[in-house]
Amino acid sequence: MDCSSTLLLLVLVTALVALLKWRNKPKNLPPGPTALPLVGNILTMDNRAPFKTFLKWSKSYGPVMTVYLGSQRALVLVGYDTVKEALVDNADDFVGRAQVPFVNRIVKGYGLVISNGERWRQLRRFSLTTLRDFGMGRKRMEGWIQEETAPFDPTFYLSRAVSNIICALVFGQRFVYEDSHFLRLLQIINGVLRFGSSSWGQMYNVFPWLMELLPGKHHTAVNEVEELKVFSKGKIQEHKDSLDPDNPRDFIDCFLIRANQEKDSPNTEFHNDNLIATVLNLFLAGTETTSTTIRYALMLLIKHPEIQTQIQTEIDTVIGRERIPVMEDRKSLPFTDAVIHEVQRYVDLVPLNIPHYTTRPITFRGYTIPQGTIILPLLHSVLRDEEHWEKPWTFNPKHFLDINGNFKKSPAFMPFSAGKRSCVGESLARMELFVFLVSLLQHFTFTTPGGPESVNITPEISGFANLPHKYQLIATPR
Ligand code: HEM
Repeated sequence: MDCSSTLLLLVLVTALVALLKWRNKPKNLPPGPTALPLVGNILTMDNRAPFKTFLKWSKSYGPVMTVYLGSQRALVLVGYDTVKEALVDNADDFVGRAQVPFVNRIVKGYGLVISNGERWRQLRRFSLTTLRDFGMGRKRMEGWIQEETAPFDPTFYLSRAVSNIICALVFGQRFVYEDSHFLRLLQIINGVLRFGSSSWGQMYNVFPWLMELLPGKHHTAVNEVEELKVFSKGKIQEHKDSLDPDNPRDFIDCFLIRANQEKDSPNTEFHNDNLIATVLNLFLAGTETTSTTIRYALMLLIKHPEIQTQIQTEIDTVIGRERIPVMEDRKSLPFTDAVIHEVQRYVDLVPLNIPHYTTRPITFRGYTIPQGTIILPLLHSVLRDEEHWEKPWTFNPKHFLDINGNFKKSPAFMPFSAGKRSCVGESLARMELFVFLVSLLQHFTFTTPGGPESVNITPEISGFANLPHKYQLIATPR
């Protein structure tokens, strides 16, 4: 049999299996658009920005919907009330993580981001404690961030500067900006997020078995991530060779020490596979998220020069031009704080969230959700919830200011998600965004050759992440 007839046979058999499964659809599921066997609802979804389609459908089917991604059942949760009720009020039911095929192809079920049950509990507790012990969200961390904020041309250095912070935590080292290997790794990380957000990436996640058989960009993406894995493995080996158990230098050392303590326990989660995968998780999650947000923030400030000037005036008054900013300054800079919050709300970096999963049958709002259902708590719908934001579709720092100009919190500010599975790096990311942006604006004014009108703030790519268009940045020293 030639290749095309094998493929055809495979598709037919899968379609038949899907059809049989279809006839046994569970009862009492939430409503949703009519789905076809095998392809589910994907033919009527905007594959460039699926979250937009979900928001549209929820107008007909309500805030709790069943949608089929291929033959995989997914529960889509829309709006602040629904997402909060699920992730926070029913945290244990919604704590599971779906096996995103592209990610799983690389980490094979290991590591913090993709795991469940005892593995996840152990790795989550360990990662949070260790990152905190090394100063995540604390004073010591500020020094590292400040070290990366010396005046520089931001376009070129942004991801290197941000990545150096997580590298210091995980690998115990920072890289010089000229290091070409470092640059290559960062280009790969950037490419991974772009791939994951592209139609190709989404097709891979819905039909991994089919995509494996077809040629295309996904093979390059997988091979490139292998390079990151080789790099992480090399770093882990270097750490093993130079480990001093009494003086842990970083996350890897702490993990190796714990692995050694538990080496006789057959069920330990502190083994090499979880170490490699968690190091990769932190390296990837800790680099592109924050640097993309900063890139987007500068773009929004170019688009709104009056807001940029107002931040600079506030910084000049409170900190001046000489002193390096510290987190303590945040409470004296309510306008700047409001702008940074509004950037994160408006940018909506992870619109679909990282998918959750039911690891057992659950009930939610009177519906019965079977085990093995993907859960999509749409952060997009929370960050644009009309009940919670005066002008959800407009960049407007007033969303976070009261009438006296004081900073005002909002429960629907959820860019890091919420509940037990929410972002592990939130306090690090918030510190990075604050210290970087304040330092940059203290020293530079940002513009672009075509002026504010030429800036296109709609994302270039919307999928797993909302990614901004490329733009030319002029940083004029103040
Ligand atoms: C602006 C920056 C960032 C944003 C918007 C962001 C957003 C998110 C979101 C939405 C999730 C999914 C939460 C859920 O499943 O409910 C997540 C998970 C995660 N983030 Fe972040 N993140 C950022 C920065 C970071 C940084 C700097 C790190 C590095 C320490 C990090 C590490 C992680 C990890 C390891 C997870 C998986 C946690 C788990 O599965 O238990 N993130 N992040």
